Amino acid sequence: MNLVWQAHQENKSENSLRIIMEYMPINLKEKLSKFSDHWSPKIIAQMNDYHFKVVKFSGDFVWHRHEETDEVFVVLDGKMSIQFRDGKVDLAPGELFVVPKGLEHKPFAEKECHIMLVEPAGTINTGSAGGDRTAADNVWI
Ligand code: NI
Repeated sequence: MNLVWQAHQENKSENSLRIIMEYMPINLKEKLSKFSDHWSPKIIAQMNDYHFKVVKFSGDFVWHRHEETDEVFVVLDGKMSIQFRDGKVDLAPGELFVVPKGLEHKPFAEKECHIMLVEPAGTINTGSAGGDRTAADNVWI
């Protein structure tokens, strides 16, 4: 976890609990430097029920859809595209795209591309397709 929390029991007689938060930024480049595997999203932050993940893409992924949720791709470095059955979108650094819930898609990156994903906690990278490209869920860095 990135946020370091310190709990202090300040006044035991009143059983009060004060939470002190250490204010630390989450640095995307630093997180990306910690791994080199492809197609394996790592969680870097949580907002309510949503996870922010960083991932490295290279080459072709599998066709899949997410039946329960939209999926956000934010390109940080490199170029990628998302193919759909009836078209595709090309994304460059600083660009994002929201893949609608239930729409079949296949990410592709000719060269290594660094991406941030925003999606509900528990979202699986291969959606309902499954298979051997399915990455472990709930991996924090
Ligand atoms: Ni997807």
